[in-house]
Order: sequence, then C-alpha cells, then structure tokens
Amino acid sequence: MIKKCLFPAAGYGTRFLPATKAMPKEMLPIVNKPLIQYGVEEAMAAGMNTIGIVTGRGKRALEDHFDISYELEQQITGTPKEVFLADIRNIIDYCTFSYTRQTEMKGLGHAILTGETLIGREPFGVILADDLCVGEDDGVLTQMARIYAKYRCSIVAIEEVPQDEVHKYGVIAGSELEDGVYVVSDMVEKPDPADAPSNLAIIGRYILTPDIFDVIRSTPPGRNGEMQITDALQTQAIRNMVLAYRFKGKRFDCGSVEGFVSATNFFYERWKNAG
Ligand code: UTP
Repeated sequence: MIKKCLFPAAGYGTRFLPATKAMPKEMLPIVNKPLIQYGVEEAMAAGMNTIGIVTGRGKRALEDHFDISYELEQQITGTPKEVFLADIRNIIDYCTFSYTRQTEMKGLGHAILTGETLIGREPFGVILADDLCVGEDDGVLTQMARIYAKYRCSIVAIEEVPQDEVHKYGVIAGSELEDGVYVVSDMVEKPDPADAPSNLAIIGRYILTPDIFDVIRSTPPGRNGEMQITDALQTQAIRNMVLAYRFKGKRFDCGSVEGFVSATNFFYERWKNAG
C-alpha cells in the first residue's frame, strides 16, 4: 500500500570520524554490505520500491552504489564472483532511485522536508540507515506497514532503553492501544533522564502521512537549533493521532562504534552460517 521510502542520509557522521571524513556513514560495510543496502532491502521487503535518498556534499558514493558499473560487470560476468553482485543487481532492477541534496544540515526534520520533492502527497516510510534493524520474523518496516493499514496515521518505531540512555533519543509517553502499539500523548527530544516521560525511545523507522511536510514547515527550530521531527510529530499527535510501535526484533546503532562492532559480529555469524 505504501510505495515510497525516504532515506535521510545527509548527516556528517561525526561520531565515526575520521572514517566518515570522505566517505558517507551509510556506506560503512557490515561484513560485505553497506548500511544503506540493508535499509533498502528492508524497504523492498515491505513493498516500498520507490526509494528517495536525501544526500549532501561528499555523498556521491551512495548514487554510484545503486547504479550499474559496466566495467565491473564486464570483468566478472561469467566468473564465480558474479554471485557477489546478485543482490545489488536485483535491487537495481526492482527499485527506482531518486536523490535530492540537503544543502545545510539543519536536522532530521529539515532533511525529511527536503525530501518532500521526492515523495509528494502520499504516506511514506522513513529509514535512518545507521539504525540497522533485524526483524524477528518480518522486517521492522513490514511490521509497521501492517499497523498503518489498520490505523492510517503516522507511526514511530520505539524500543525500551536504559534510563541513563534516554538523553540520546526522542522519548514518548502514551497509552497502550493493543499489544506493543501506543497512542502517543507526549514526545520529548533528548530529555534529561529526570524529565523523561518514559524509557520508550524512538528509533530510526517511521511511517509518515504527507501532512507532516506542512507541519515541519510551520514548526520552529527546537533542541540544538535544529528542525526536529519529534516536534512536528508532537503537533501531529495533538491534531490527529500518532502511534508508537514497539517492534519485534533488534536494532544496532551503527552510528556509534560500539553498535557498529556488535552489528558486525552479529552479521558475521549469519554470513558464516549461510556460507
Ligand atoms: P544523526 O543524529 O545520527 O546525525 O542523524 P549524524 O550527523 O548522521 O551523525 P553524528 O551524530 O554526527 O555522528 C540521524 C539521521 O538523520 C540524518 C543522518 O544522515 C542520519 O541518518 N540527518 C541528520 C540528515 O540527513 N540531515 C541532518 O541535517 C541531520
């Protein structure tokens, strides 16, 4: 039902310097696949094959990754190495990609607003590729699309985090509507632990209704002077309804070195067992 997925990928990735000085954070590999490819595969599995990527300066490798490399194709076609390109070829055949640039990094809300031109007036998924998610059965975006089909409103994915980590996230308060699904009554971006309404933290998966663009446009800059998606969602929660969904699966924060190493160990085991 939802066909489009937006990937805000313009951030500087300062937590991963110097690796991210000349290379996009989203191209960091977990075993043999860049983070962004895991994200696109999750979107594809949820039936979203129109992919919009918000890029920035120094991010051209993202566009090259989702394009044919004729020289490389010619070199390895007919050799045993051809199999290594099977997945990415399949993605290129099945999805369409469009790109737009965020020229000033004014926050996630601003990055999503920059993507309006790629989305138009329809509901869409959002994936922050540095949050690498492994669904229990289905992918996280597939789980969320199922909830969207039932309630038709914006949805944020949440997970429980330790109280001393709430200051790194947007945090929600809400009442449980059905198992793992909450109606959001409040949302705070990066609260002090003492002021946090809960320990249910928003992670990098969203389904948004298109009115979010007008809401972001009329929302003043929030924490750190950035346009925060959390503030816009809080307005949507008051005007209509926003749901928070405690997804089934696990998430690795690959924007941090610790999360990146954990993800690498996890996927290395999978890769070894598959091989
Ligand atoms: P992060 O908070 O992880 O910021 O952004 P960052 O700049 O990528 O990384 P650090 O904190 O400096 O290490 C969350 C997501 O929002 C995107 C990022 O690319 C990332 O996927 N983003 C953030 C933008 O696209 N534009 C922005 O202005 C800010």
